[in-house]
Amino acid sequence: MDDLRERYIAAIAAAADEAGLEEIRLAALGRKGEISLQMRELGRMAPEARAAAGAALNALKDEIDAALRARREALADAALDERLKAEWLDVTLPARPRRTGSIHPVSRVTEEVTAIFADMGFAVAEGPQVESDWYNFDALNIPPEHPARQEHDTFFMARAPGDGRPPHVLRTHTSPVQIRAMAERGAPIRVIAPGRVYRMDMDQTHTPMFHQVEGLAVDRDISMANLKWVLEEFCRAYFGVDHVELRFRASHFPFTEPSAEVDIRCSWEGGALRIGEGESWLEILGSGMVHPKVLAAAGVDPDQWQGFAFGMGIDRIAMLKYGIPDLRAFFESDLRWLRHYGFAANAVPSLAGGLGG
Ligand code: PHE
Repeated sequence: MDDLRERYIAAIAAAADEAGLEEIRLAALGRKGEISLQMRELGRMAPEARAAAGAALNALKDEIDAALRARREALADAALDERLKAEWLDVTLPARPRRTGSIHPVSRVTEEVTAIFADMGFAVAEGPQVESDWYNFDALNIPPEHPARQEHDTFFMARAPGDGRPPHVLRTHTSPVQIRAMAERGAPIRVIAPGRVYRMDMDQTHTPMFHQVEGLAVDRDISMANLKWVLEEFCRAYFGVDHVELRFRASHFPFTEPSAEVDIRCSWEGGALRIGEGESWLEILGSGMVHPKVLAAAGVDPDQWQGFAFGMGIDRIAMLKYGIPDLRAFFESDLRWLRHYGFAANAVPSLAGGLGG
């Protein structure tokens, strides 16, 4: 029996897989297995010898059974280890290089404009894009029957039927922020208000949503001369040229009196735009002295205070400075366009660091 034990325990330890173990089990404990056959012999033994041999055989059977189970588990563990090794993945490997995002030209130019005007003492003011009819029109001296309302190609918000009040609008310009800023901060005040505006218009130079920056300076003795200097100073810094020439053309806006549209001297020679030289003029903004009714609507006494205001197209001056031909492409989210015209995220514009493209 000792011999049986030794043989089977050694065979079990040497078995390489599940099938090998099964063979051993059948050879020992199967119906015709060695141990089963010996069990059958017990019947022919004398009662005393049978009791001793029976107990020993049963113990041997249990021992082989346990050894088989232990070996089966060890083989399964080893197989799992094998598989884990084969499927191992080094997550500490560096990731594949991926292009980082970029700053949209509109965001970039808004930052540039903000930096330049901040240097001249202008704070940033904001207002909602869904604006009340009063802020967008009435307070800016555009009463309901005024023809300028039609010219604005306004988007109207829906009202509950039978509401009776005028509908809100998507602001058609940033000028309502003049009213909000003055009502909130009073005079004297110096603010710019960059943001989105909306008009029902779409071609190569117009999109239904675009960006403006409003400027407003109110004090006791502000004149058109201050407006002219501020705008020239802005253009010098923004376009990065020492010499700029602006042309003020008499115009009309209900919220300024007098009003002027401002053109900048430029050249298109050889297909490249140069600012400050040449024989062409490019319109870049509308401006004027804030109308007394506008000051009054915002709670500022027009007998004591006066000021200038201007509104400039951000997308437009971005196109000029960075040579971007089609406005519609600004808002199509085409990755190739964004990669080409976008700016590195860590290149924050500042006057000291330079604003150049
Ligand atoms: N709000 C005007 C526009 O959108 C621009 C403007 C602003 C003109 C301020 C004068 C003063 O066309």
